[in-house]
Amino acid sequence: MSKFVHEKIVIGLDVSTFEEVEAILSLCRNALWFKVGSQLFTKFGPSVVEFIRKDGRKVFLDLKFHDIPNTVKNAVSSAVELGVDLLTLHSLGGRKMIAQAREVVEGTSVKILAVTVLTSHNEQELRNEIGIYESVGDAVTRLAKMAISAGAHGVVCSPQEIRILRDNIQGEFMIVTPGVRPAWEKEAYDQARVMTPSEAIKLGADKIVIARPILKAKNPSEAYNKLVEEIENEL
Ligand code: C5P
Repeated sequence: MSKFVHEKIVIGLDVSTFEEVEAILSLCRNALWFKVGSQLFTKFGPSVVEFIRKDGRKVFLDLKFHDIPNTVKNAVSSAVELGVDLLTLHSLGGRKMIAQAREVVEGTSVKILAVTVLTSHNEQELRNEIGIYESVGDAVTRLAKMAISAGAHGVVCSPQEIRILRDNIQGEFMIVTPGVRPAWEKEAYDQARVMTPSEAIKLGADKIVIARPILKAKNPSEAYNKLVEEIENEL
């Protein structure tokens, strides 16, 4: 079962030094997936991705590409060359952008995830600043449907949106969700509505992204192992 559980966990490398990256990779020896976001990538560039890959681990490159289709196509092509396994783009970039990104990864093992509505936006901001007049749930569902039909392999969403997406979108697609907290974690940090990893997986998440409960733990290795155990026991 363990291998199956390691495939489900992505450690978000929200750190600012290469030493911390090295430390987390070596402490969490069994962990398979690591998320490199804009903070780390802007600081260290491809070298951090190469380091993780050479260590035999998998990279989720979370740069949320959002640009004209041709530019995103070229960016995705660079990511494929770099050897990432999973990457994000923004669904608001539209159908053409997503379709062209998909063409680039076709025939490779790289998968594309679309971000729908950033969870930092509330409905009032969506309406007044961005011009989206639906409820968050409706907007997420509509954008996810469009992104998947355009060629995205899946979406990133909050645990609260897993059910609505599984209920409203037929067929196979991946759901990756942050905003989870293990049952043993007392701190929610700034995540407002959290779920445990196994609750999210039972609802239909394929992978969960988790950072601070592991990065900030006194013993990250033990925290990761406890997380694996908790998922194994509850699934
Ligand atoms: O520390 P924590 O487990 O909350 O980190 C979760 C990871 O998922 C971070 O990398 C964070 O940027 C990302 N994320 C999130 N909430 C979102 C989207 C992404 O926490 N809505």
